[in-house]
Amino acid sequence: MIEDLKKLEIDAQAEISSLTDPKLFEEAKTKYLGRKGLLAVISSRMAEVPADKKRDAGQELNRVKSAIESLFADKQKDLGSSSSAGVKKIDTSMPGTFYAPGTLHPLTQVMEDVVSIFQKLGFRLVEGPEVETEYYNFEALNIPLNHPARDSFDTFYLDNGRLLRSQTSPVQIRVMEKTKPPLQIIAPGKVYRPDATDATHSFMFHQIEGLMVDENVSFAHLKGVLFAFAQEFFGQGTKLRFRPHFFPFTEPSAEIDIWSDTRNSWLEVLGAGMVHPHVLKSVKIDPEKYTGFAFGMGVERLAMLKYGVEDIRYFFENDLRFLKQF
Ligand code: DAH
Repeated sequence: MIEDLKKLEIDAQAEISSLTDPKLFEEAKTKYLGRKGLLAVISSRMAEVPADKKRDAGQELNRVKSAIESLFADKQKDLGSSSSAGVKKIDTSMPGTFYAPGTLHPLTQVMEDVVSIFQKLGFRLVEGPEVETEYYNFEALNIPLNHPARDSFDTFYLDNGRLLRSQTSPVQIRVMEKTKPPLQIIAPGKVYRPDATDATHSFMFHQIEGLMVDENVSFAHLKGVLFAFAQEFFGQGTKLRFRPHFFPFTEPSAEIDIWSDTRNSWLEVLGAGMVHPHVLKSVKIDPEKYTGFAFGMGVERLAMLKYGVEDIRYFFENDLRFLKQF
């Protein structure tokens, strides 16, 4: 029995010294010192010990018991009060945990800024689906099948005959089908084109579409609205230039540039024009009575110009060192 007690003491020493977890500490304590623990098992054999050896065995039992108890007591101090109380002490003089507050993604900020400028001018915010039909993405916008203009809107086609919209212009059609003039809408959203990714191309990007239809809406209104937008968004004194261009859904059409002092050049920011009579007819609006203007701009492009970002890929890499600057 004395041999067993010595062995138990050695085992207990090794096990207790390796303890680091308060929970395992409690388990080990029960294992050695508990009512049915290893020590109790050995001491229950006291009855079998011959009378002349009882005294030594009893002394050894007491010695080992208090040795193990004091090992546990020391360990408990090491592990701190958490093991006994289960409550962490709080040092209120320590610096707290710092949680970095999140911010809106720069593209979201730009979209919200642009939308709110147009809302102040009376435009209503609407959204359309990203999965579209050929009809809305092309046909109703005066881009018939086999029309060469389809090439400039290279498109992801889905198995079900639908497609990922390659522009936000289909929202114009959806709105005009449901709402008759006068109408003024602004429609931000994602668009998709199977372009190889580089500094200025991404297979997914964002556009903001605008549309105003009423009696006597003219190109002068378009100029006035876009001018007001540019002053608000890029700053007072921003210069605009309208360049003749072609879009199937507008006639006449223009591309609009802003002047950049830092780059000392004109930079293209959006496309626009007077809504083509074919487009109005496709939604049963009488082109003799109503006219309208429309425009579409690339959000990444606006953000790159406004903040001097040189590579579109930064917007999608989600590197906090980039995002934190906005
Ligand atoms: N949808 C055109 C594009 O993706 C942009 C655009 C140009 C929209 C002229 C318009 C517009 O509404 O009138 O390039």
